[in-house]
Amino acid sequence: MDKSSGRTWLGWMAVAAITGLFVAPAYGEGNGNVIDEAELANMVIQDCGSCHGLKLKGGLGPPLLPENVDRLPEEAIAAIIREGVPGTAMPPWKALLTTEEIRWVSEQLKSGSLITPE
Ligand code: HEC
Repeated sequence: MDKSSGRTWLGWMAVAAITGLFVAPAYGEGNGNVIDEAELANMVIQDCGSCHGLKLKGGLGPPLLPENVDRLPEEAIAAIIREGVPGTAMPPWKALLTTEEIRWVSEQLKSGSLITPE
């Protein structure tokens, strides 16, 4: 009895190892889960920039420079991007951006890495 349950466990381990081998390389191929940072950075400047300014210094929407978003935790920024701000011009982006992409954008806003120096 012990032996057979031991074999079953080993069997599952083998299955896990084999699936891992086949699934892992396939993961990176489709671009579904991969963040295209260049494309996203461009999208932030163009799309978010249309309201927040091409240098994110503000326009119709408030400035998104690190000192402006400093008061907001990264998760709060992500929530604003995901859901928008109801009753304002800030639209929800969840239909257009994945959770990973939203997290990446939130990180960049915090660090200011998308802002080109004058
Ligand atoms: C159609 C115009 C518009 C677009 C496009 C837009 N926003 Fe906004 N956004 C606003 C407005 C207006 C507000 C202010 C909402 C309010 O009054 O709280 C805002 C608020 C924000 C805030 C909160 C800022 C703060 O200090 O409270 C963040 C973060 C933000 N937007 C990020 C983004 C990102 C990232 C994008 C692109 C993915 C984007 N926005 C695109 C109009 C826009």
